Amino acid sequence: MRRMHIQNVEPGMVLGKALYGDNYEVLLNKGVELTEGYINRLKNKGFIKVYIDDEDTADVIIKDPISDKIRIMATKDILKTYELTQSAIVSIEAETTESVIKSINTPKIKNAFQENQAFKQMCKDINSFVDELMNENILSGLNSIKSFDNYTFEHSVDTAVLSIIIAKRLFLNKDKLRQIAIGEFLHDIGKIFIDKNIINKPGKLTAEEYEQVKQHTTYGYELLKDIGNIGEVSKHIPYQHHERQDGKGYPRGLRGNNKIEESNVGYTDQDKLIMIAEIAAIADFYDACISDRPYRKGLSPDFVYGLIKEGSGTQFNSELVECFLGVIPKYPVGSEVKIKNGKYKDFTGVVLSLNIQQLTRPKVKLLCDARKNKITPCEIDLSSDISTDMECIC
Ligand SMILES: [Fe+2]
Ligand SMILES: [Fe+2]
Repeated sequence: MRRMHIQNVEPGMVLGKALYGDNYEVLLNKGVELTEGYINRLKNKGFIKVYIDDEDTADVIIKDPISDKIRIMATKDILKTYELTQSAIVSIEAETTESVIKSINTPKIKNAFQENQAFKQMCKDINSFVDELMNENILSGLNSIKSFDNYTFEHSVDTAVLSIIIAKRLFLNKDKLRQIAIGEFLHDIGKIFIDKNIINKPGKLTAEEYEQVKQHTTYGYELLKDIGNIGEVSKHIPYQHHERQDGKGYPRGLRGNNKIEESNVGYTDQDKLIMIAEIAAIADFYDACISDRPYRKGLSPDFVYGLIKEGSGTQFNSELVECFLGVIPKYPVGSEVKIKNGKYKDFTGVVLSLNIQQLTRPKVKLLCDARKNKITPCEIDLSSDISTDMECIC
């Protein structure tokens, strides 16, 4: 299987993973042979990439860390929690930050959130979500393909998966992992209190609009802060996931100390940056950057990997970045890659499998030569072929 840009998909190709519609009904099932009509429908629906099964990449196994069943369950819980809370909001146009915070703290909004069945269901479903991730130690493949309308919910599930895999490496207990999952599922919920036209604006935001978007952190915290049964960590992920080590983040400009410290795992006081939010900052950045949006293609995984390394110490906790680099491969399985030097210069192929000892040097299956002509597939192992460099191209 491989992930392919929709522009390169041709009739007759076979879908490798099911695609889902707005309410998570199956749109097209795994194994369906794509027709011109199907491909056009997918383009109209805003899908930018799809998984394709073909003979050349039949041995490329892209493993999703969670089952479709659990992924859909979690995504629906988030979607419905958002919808039911949103239905209590009367108007948010031209309101000040203070007036929005005041209305979040009214019984009407608070009850719409904490009494809604979807939120209660989410709190129950968290256990099976965390359980499924208990055996996953690295994220071998690519993140999920996201739909146009449900991006925020799907992004929230992917950041939860990524955060939990990082946190597991730090041997955090299951209760903490559950708190991480809830906090990540709801990390952007504050966006429902911001004008939709700003949230969905395709182009660059004005300075004033950006100031408004930044408030989603505070709004999320205000919504969650007095909910009894979810734990402090869950509430501070929405609040702190855009803070930075150097104090240049938002909303409060908290500072980090670039260390993994036992004492910093839980919540201690209101003004301290918690380590779990520092994990969330990395996971959120990674997933948001590599995901496709209707107005821009996602950045390639190897490029974003480099951005996280560059941000180590200033944007991100440097000891956590080290941990991240141990669970996220530079070139995930199923990525399309191009060789940059040596005898296979400009040949293209697909990442076949990872070498756990050397996550940045996987095995690659070459499929096309430098002139883009198909070749008899051949494997190269970058862990032994140390002079060969490559880049992701999709
Ligand atoms: Fe956010
Ligand atoms: Fe986010």
